[in-house]
Amino acid sequence: MTAMDPEIAALVTRWQQAHGRSHLPWQQTRDPYRVWLSEIMLQQTQVGTVLDYYPRFLARFPDVQALAVASPDDVLALWSGLGYYSRARNLHRCAQQVVAQHGGAFPASAEVLATLPGIGRSTAGAIAAFCFGERSPILDANVRRVLTRLLGFGEDLAVARNERQLWDHAQALLPQDDLAHTMPRYTQGLMDLGAMVCLPRRPLCGQCPLQARCVALAQGTPEAYPVKTRKLVRRAESWWLLVLCDPAGRVWLQRRPARGIWAGLHCPPVFTGREALLADPVFQEGAIVTDEMPSFLHVLTHRDLHLHPVRVRAGDGGGPDDGSAGWYGRGQWDALGLPAPVRKLLSEIA
Ligand code: ADE
Ligand code: SF4
Repeated sequence: MTAMDPEIAALVTRWQQAHGRSHLPWQQTRDPYRVWLSEIMLQQTQVGTVLDYYPRFLARFPDVQALAVASPDDVLALWSGLGYYSRARNLHRCAQQVVAQHGGAFPASAEVLATLPGIGRSTAGAIAAFCFGERSPILDANVRRVLTRLLGFGEDLAVARNERQLWDHAQALLPQDDLAHTMPRYTQGLMDLGAMVCLPRRPLCGQCPLQARCVALAQGTPEAYPVKTRKLVRRAESWWLLVLCDPAGRVWLQRRPARGIWAGLHCPPVFTGREALLADPVFQEGAIVTDEMPSFLHVLTHRDLHLHPVRVRAGDGGGPDDGSAGWYGRGQWDALGLPAPVRKLLSEIA
């Protein structure tokens, strides 16, 4: 684990000084109002666009008091074209809160900054590092990419515990000395590496100050990081269950396929619709529907299963399928692997 290697902070800081961006307008100040404004604008907007909006916004609202007393319409008008208008509303609310609750001065720590509207942990860290030299980490999308590659951190960042662990690594990597000077440089350096060198596709590792220590580069797979699974998209599905009973009270059960929902468990035959169920050959052999039972919802990790059991009295033939299927009496159900809702269903018809 390289997280405690103090040389990493020094390499990033030195690289920033020599190769990073240093002429952006918000880098020419330690005024938290100006730094805050730039960070909010840069959250979802390209630097080039922000370079256009930033000076106009500051000309109209030169300090946090001016912004706090503005009308919401005035703020929105100057934001117009930047998109993500909740940012503008939070910006306004934040300015009002700084005036009302902090005497018009931005709080000087990331921890308190993060309590203000629209300021998340990373933005709070950036403002505190840039303006106050606080030893506070940032972890926006660019920096997440740099650090997961550098450390070979392959855990799924969709899991909160892993995300927290990466924050801990980000904290441990921070510079130790001369913070008023190094924290702004280092913080900007990580941002610049992510924006200019450690690109999402085809990172320019040959130009990277961290190449000798980068785990992902050594593995030859920088693009495999960061790992973040998509949010689960829940899908709804309707299953029609043919609950076929014989005169002895036995039920026809078949084994589910080895893969997929309820893999390998026993279950009544499943159909995707009522028509498909009623088209089953058992109905040519004298089977008749005796009861359309109440439908119910069964929630799985990836699916909402709407189950529609149809109770059917068997005719002369066997069941609808002879492969790994058969009649099972009540005394045998306990020994079978049954999905919980099927077990419940059977207990209700018994
Ligand atoms: N994106 C977010 N913060 C930034 C900054 N300070 N400079 C350049 N791009 C950024
Ligand atoms: Fe990113 Fe390549 Fe640098 Fe590793 S060596 S941090 S993958 S640019």
